Amino acid sequence: MRVLVTGGAGYIGSHTLLELMAQGHEVCVVDNYCNASPEVLVRIRSLSNGTLVDHIGDVRDSVKLDDIMDGFQPEAVIHFAGLKAVGESQERPLHYYDINVSGTLCLLRAMDRIGCRKIVFSSSATVYGVPKYLPYDEAHPTNPTSVYGRSKLMVEQILTDWTAAQDDTTAVLLRYFNPVGAHASGQIGEDPSDIPNNLMPYIAQVAIGKRDALTVFGDDYDTADGTGLRDYIHVVDLARAHVAALGYADKATGARAFNVGTGQSYSVLDMVAAFERTSGKTIPTKVAARRDGDIAAMQADATRAKHELKWVTEHNLDDMTSSTWVWQSGNPNGYKS
Ligand code: NAD
Ligand code: UFG
Repeated sequence: MRVLVTGGAGYIGSHTLLELMAQGHEVCVVDNYCNASPEVLVRIRSLSNGTLVDHIGDVRDSVKLDDIMDGFQPEAVIHFAGLKAVGESQERPLHYYDINVSGTLCLLRAMDRIGCRKIVFSSSATVYGVPKYLPYDEAHPTNPTSVYGRSKLMVEQILTDWTAAQDDTTAVLLRYFNPVGAHASGQIGEDPSDIPNNLMPYIAQVAIGKRDALTVFGDDYDTADGTGLRDYIHVVDLARAHVAALGYADKATGARAFNVGTGQSYSVLDMVAAFERTSGKTIPTKVAARRDGDIAAMQADATRAKHELKWVTEHNLDDMTSSTWVWQSGNPNGYKS
């Protein structure tokens, strides 16, 4: 299939490009590089012989998008491009709605113009908000607690309305849990441009000596060790869920949401212990107050994805931490290494 990948130079997009090309899909990337390095595509090309074209462009630039669509004629789009920092989204709501929501509207108009009928969208488990029960299934009520989460839910609603209005369209809404880990080559991984917000890249930077200690945000949650529980998923498993989603979109119509997680959860201290075990490094920790907006526990019920996407995870916790360490130790300065 010819697949246009917005935000394909980012963390999840880059891993997905490799999986798509491995399955023989032709890919075209559009990315404005606001949170990515052009070095990513250099490395992807060295790891794969697949067909990859790329364009520097913003998804809000309709003229550019029309041009790219006319040239590539995608049969499907995977839409990663967007902003993802929860804290920043509270400070810059209009910027987040502009890129995440208006950006998607521009993309859909450009797709409609050339008759492209299938989209796979990067949604998030954050659309559920405070759990009424766990694990979350897709029927769990949605009540996001941040601007970021609301922008994802708005796009899900827009895509649902888009498919309702045209019966040959498909929108696969992938609700990611917590992606971590890196490609087995050690060449592709997560490269935060600033101080990492997320747990795993922060631990990796402590291990490499860039940061002194991990701050554990709260050890007084109602969990076994008092720290937050999350459903961490290896980024390569997540990337493969996109390939599975394309297969599903080829046969189905309408909008459908899928949880993309492992169905298991680990605490902050579990993650530290696993990282220490697989890297041989000691990770000093200090406990601080809970982080604003954090919840105690999140966990996916991924049964729907297993049955309908025919997708299951293949990597375990040690694969997640060891691949992160191989990437971080081989690339201490990320793509600038
Ligand atoms: P990322 O920042 O690494 O990738 C996003 C990519 O989109 C970057 O390459 C960035 O340069 C590009 N981009 C941003 N705005 C753009 C625009 N206006 N036009 C063109 N390109 C633009 O993030 P990621 O972790 O790979 O996440 C990908 C998607 O998955 C995002 O939509 C994110 O919200 C969603 N998601 C991520 C997580 C996570 O924990 N990483 C969890 C749930 C959902
Ligand atoms: N944590 C720490 N110290 C840190 C960073 C995180 O203790 O320095 C803790 C958090 O309090 C939480 C856990 O580690 O208990 C995971 O935190 P992350 O920031 O890595 O991930 P979140 O679950 O907060 O959010 C992530 C993405 C969101 C996405 C969500 C989906 O950042 O964009 O997963 O589940 F929506």
